[in-house]
Amino acid sequence: MYQVATVLLLAFSAATRALDNGLMKTPPMGWLAWERFRCDIDCDNDPQNCISEVLFRDMADRLAEDGWRELGYVYVNIDDCWSSKKRDEQGRLQPDPKRFPGGIAKLARYIHGRGLKLGIYGDMGTYTCAGYPGTTLDTIEMDARTFAEWGVDMLKLDGCYSNSSVQEQGYPLMSKALNATGRPIGYSCSWPCYQGGLPPKVNYTVLGEICNLWRNYEDIQDSWDSILTIVDWFTDHQDIIQPAAGPGHWNDPDMLIIGDYGLSMDQSRSQMALWAIMAAPLFMSNDLRTVSSGARTILQNKVAIAINQDPLGIQGRRLIKEKSEIDVFWRPLSDDASALVFFSRRTDMPFRYQTSLKTLNYTAGTYMVYDVFLQKIQPTLKDTTNFVVSINPTGVVMWYLFPTTVRQEEAEPVRFTKMLKRIKLYGREDYADSLTGL
Ligand SMILES: *[C@@H]1O[C@H](CO)[C@@H](O)[C@H](O)[C@H]1NC(C)=O
Ligand SMILES: *[C@@H]1O[C@H](CO)[C@@H](O)[C@H](O)[C@H]1NC(C)=O
Ligand SMILES: *[C@@H]1O[C@H](CO)[C@@H](O)[C@H](O)[C@H]1NC(C)=O
Ligand SMILES: *[C@@H]1O[C@H](CO)[C@@H](O)[C@H](O)[C@H]1NC(C)=O
Repeated sequence: MYQVATVLLLAFSAATRALDNGLMKTPPMGWLAWERFRCDIDCDNDPQNCISEVLFRDMADRLAEDGWRELGYVYVNIDDCWSSKKRDEQGRLQPDPKRFPGGIAKLARYIHGRGLKLGIYGDMGTYTCAGYPGTTLDTIEMDARTFAEWGVDMLKLDGCYSNSSVQEQGYPLMSKALNATGRPIGYSCSWPCYQGGLPPKVNYTVLGEICNLWRNYEDIQDSWDSILTIVDWFTDHQDIIQPAAGPGHWNDPDMLIIGDYGLSMDQSRSQMALWAIMAAPLFMSNDLRTVSSGARTILQNKVAIAINQDPLGIQGRRLIKEKSEIDVFWRPLSDDASALVFFSRRTDMPFRYQTSLKTLNYTAGTYMVYDVFLQKIQPTLKDTTNFVVSINPTGVVMWYLFPTTVRQEEAEPVRFTKMLKRIKLYGREDYADSLTGL
């Protein structure tokens, strides 16, 4: 009895540490304008790509019609440069009248009508990063009410043109103000990015109580170098940031740039695998109207998404950093499953990496292995069996594993059926159905 009570108490105290708006129990997924479309406001010359209601309606159409929404990509998020340079006569934020002639409330209705959610952008400071009106301490409540009245579902609050005392007061006050509107609004805080120092001077307990997600590090750019810098930062500081993540509160390494110009297909698989294993929010910033079928296949990989969305919500960690420039990441998943990512920083040739599950601290037993990007079941593995994975330069091998009583000698159909049953257990029956065709 005593032990049960203790467990319940621990579970309860853990639950009260998260922001209590009922949202984002798994990492949020969707689309965010910034990395791909920046602050293009030249609608006269670039009407299809400028920051306007046309762009967000187009992306909502694509999310709804091209199979994204069903996979969980439901947020359509506006970033900077949406607003007018002036607040209205009552002091409220208002959209640029030329680029958003219908207003944000109408855009929200359109997006909700497609079964999606709308996110908007603000800044806890005098101006946004691109120089539009910011949210100051005295406009927090008004701005929260404005967003709620428009039907907004998520707010990214940046931190340009600000200082630490304004942020220390402002980020928690906005959390309270959003709650007071009565509308559940996901809250993304850029606060940690603006707190200098190594390790960063951030109280992640406080952050988890007020925000659903937070940007820890610099903006992503459309390049492999940018991905490497972010992954290095996240792994170098994993002892501090990994325990901060959990259902309702996530570390955010920033947008997916898969489908843009900077990554090869191998590098695209690497970003998807690393973001999935790190339990990162999955916000694509690309042009869904023209995204290549290769990029789409990676972004729509159901098992990678299922790993990202695992209900336990435990962020994965780097277990091993080899001198050979191979990193091994591990993430525990529900129902005793787990994921591994073998990641190569090499640029010369495919590297044959040898290890065993025992070396990776798996408990004794036999494991089923599914290769996430090959989309193939691998031979079952004993913990003690040495195996070799061949990892492409700047690429990954990603595995989904679970302990099984199946023996290596058992026929392929038997193993396959057990795998399917497992993936069904895993919560997404539709995933399993689509895997039967492999
Ligand atoms: C506001 O906070 C309370 C208490 O934490 C919570 O029960 C409620 O669901 C929250 N409401 C919204 C809209 O976030
Ligand atoms: C921070 O900014 C606020 C508002 O602009 C200003 O009133 C305050 O003096 C600043 N504080 C510091 C420590 O710079
Ligand atoms: C972080 O904030 C929590 C809750 O306010 C507090 O209990 C804890 O002592 C703080 N941690 C540090 C290192 O300041
Ligand atoms: C496995 O566990 C041992 C003992 O706890 C530890 O020393 C070792 O670093 C672990 N190995 C990995 C790859 O995590």
